Amino acid sequence: MKKLLIAILFSSLVFSCKNNNKRGLITNQAMVVSAKAEASKIGTAILKQGGNVFDAMIATDLALAVCYPYAGNIGGGGFMVYRLEDGSIGALDYREKASKLATKDMYLDSLGNVIPGLSTKGGLAVGVPGTIAGLFEVHDKFGSLPMETIMQPVIDLANKGYVLTTKDQAVLDDKRLAFLEVNKTPILFSKAWKAKDTIKQPKLAKTLKAIMLNGRDEFYKGETAKKIADFIQKNGGIITIDDLASYEAQWRQPVTFEYDNLNIISMSPPSSGGICLGQIMLQIEDYNLDEFGHNSLKAIQVITEAERRAYADRSYYLGDPDFVTVPQDQLLSESYIKSRMSNFSFDAATASTTVSHGKVQIIESDETTHYSIVDQFGNAIAVTTTLNSGYGSKLYSQELGFFFNNEMDDFSSKPGVPNVYGLIGAEANAILPEKRMLSSMTPTIVEKNDQLYMTLGTPGGSTIITSVMQTILNVHEYDMTMQDAVDAPRFHHQWLPDTIRMEPDSFSQQLIEQLKAKGYIINEENADVIGKVDGILVLDNGQLEAGADKRGDDTAFGF
Ligand code: DON
Repeated sequence: MKKLLIAILFSSLVFSCKNNNKRGLITNQAMVVSAKAEASKIGTAILKQGGNVFDAMIATDLALAVCYPYAGNIGGGGFMVYRLEDGSIGALDYREKASKLATKDMYLDSLGNVIPGLSTKGGLAVGVPGTIAGLFEVHDKFGSLPMETIMQPVIDLANKGYVLTTKDQAVLDDKRLAFLEVNKTPILFSKAWKAKDTIKQPKLAKTLKAIMLNGRDEFYKGETAKKIADFIQKNGGIITIDDLASYEAQWRQPVTFEYDNLNIISMSPPSSGGICLGQIMLQIEDYNLDEFGHNSLKAIQVITEAERRAYADRSYYLGDPDFVTVPQDQLLSESYIKSRMSNFSFDAATASTTVSHGKVQIIESDETTHYSIVDQFGNAIAVTTTLNSGYGSKLYSQELGFFFNNEMDDFSSKPGVPNVYGLIGAEANAILPEKRMLSSMTPTIVEKNDQLYMTLGTPGGSTIITSVMQTILNVHEYDMTMQDAVDAPRFHHQWLPDTIRMEPDSFSQQLIEQLKAKGYIINEENADVIGKVDGILVLDNGQLEAGADKRGDDTAFGF
């Protein structure tokens, strides 16, 4: 008993002190923060040559496809939110789409049961990739340097190779068997790679060079397109050259809402990120979070209850706006938001079974990537891009040198019934030809007093939204540095399962016991970290501070 008390006292001392005043990299003008030093360096070099934030985006994105194949990609898709120096804002959706041949029941057997693995591994799991269309769309609208100048350093990186870190080795080790199972033959990445080895990718360099020389149509209508369609079909998929030729990235209006003196600009559907982030933050805005204290019992209660309610709505209402009507204004309206928290009490947890909508459970995988860039002209972007799972469908074209996504698993394979990830969706996210699958990616830009304040985002599936929110709160409510804000321990609730996921070794036993006493169920089995946030904060003196998450190899560069 005495030992337990000492442990509790010790842990509450350790865990209550999270504001370490540790600063991330500080620069005067421009910065790139991404999952990999090589990518941040290449993006920064483009800025140094006079390129703008969008030129740097293209370079960073493609560099991640080379040196972070776990999530960086040309075989996947993503979302970008921007804010120009003059305050104008916008968003680009280069999310994957279902093939024209996709059907609602494509992952079901003759009895109507979901066939395990079909939407997560191999050719049938692949959605029509959007990344190359997205990057060329960005270049057409905003690019200032020639594509050759932007892409050549990336092609050089693919040829010269990148050096594996310990973390790279660990994820490759973890996926080796799946690579062999899906590809039925050894691939470049299934070798027994070790940390410090150099991986060269001449095939990827060749594909990138063809795209550089022939433009986006190389990937969607040209030789590469034919090879992609042929390869996916040979591996059980249904994507055709017609699917590729019809793919277009879409400019979208970002979701915006106010929280105190902040204006939050985030991703709109087909990502649930912006709406869900807005719902959570608006529900908690009237509570005195700073007085409650960072990760205190009361703060966790309020945030958890708001998350529970927002995720219930996410599951029921959200889907591709080109196919379903998303009641965005109603979901973010003041009267609706107020009504959602009206039955909350600090005395006891609200059971998720008493919170509508539908019987929906969302469990998503943990392998995406986010980067944030501010340029020397004052423009900012936040970009989250993914193959969905780590290395996507694990299907790798030896000829073209890249992995294909398994984004089809973000649809609900059978509305109302969990798919292999335990994900249950409603009709709004059912599969239809050419539809985009619902996402949680939340690239976000924050203004304070109408000026650029922060750009941030993270991987982490359904935990993306709550990780972005906690990072904003850490800076705004708890006065943390950007680095402390991204490093601080995180927790997550998503309505169903009705549990609070807490990062391991990050919260005191005393706090966990207090939450349990209020009726909260703590998921102590899931020992994974939550998210890997990369962001940039504009300091009072105009300098930029990086937050490069300590949970990964994330690194900032700038000048
Ligand atoms: O779009 C989504 O929400 C998911 N495909 C993202 C997956 C993800 O974040 C995995 N990783 N960390």
